[in-house]
Amino acid sequence: MKELKITPIKDGTVIDHITPGRALLVLRVLHLPESSSSVVSILMNVMGKKGRKDIVKVENRELDPKELDKIALIAPKATINIIRDYEVVKKHTVEIPDEVVGITRCSNPTCISNAREPVESRFHVISKDPPRIRCYYCEREPEDIAEGII
Ligand code: CTP
Ligand code: ZN
Repeated sequence: MKELKITPIKDGTVIDHITPGRALLVLRVLHLPESSSSVVSILMNVMGKKGRKDIVKVENRELDPKELDKIALIAPKATINIIRDYEVVKKHTVEIPDEVVGITRCSNPTCISNAREPVESRFHVISKDPPRIRCYYCEREPEDIAEGII
């Protein structure tokens, strides 16, 4: 039987090696499909060289550093491939920064970062894989990091 090949894209970004099952969370942090009319392809639970993974392909769009940090928190092994004219012209692995500022909310409703004051959320990173963060203000450790991502 002929194997189905995954269709290459001409220009855009391929987010590869996403933790299996997390592709939809990646779309959520990129505000896709609402934020643009880019063609988006999603592959879930595909078999790669190192086991199962999800892949998200976004045509004609590149990602900004904040989006990359959000993806790192959801899928710490993800690779970002920039495609131009069918070629991978750039490949890098996402990396969780040492401090996570302004990209995810604290799960404690009485935390100062959730009050009206303009205090940006701020977390210490206590583990990068699996990702674990602790609020700089109230020390709460969110159980589900993805849930708080802005
Ligand atoms: N890709 C794509 N369109 C292209 C080129 C590549 O959709 N025109 C996708 C591939 O399907 C793959 C990812 O981009 O999911 C990275 O491509 P490539 O670096 O060629 O694959 P690998 O060498 O397998 O990557 P890695 O070593 O990171 O696993
Ligand atoms: Zn807090």
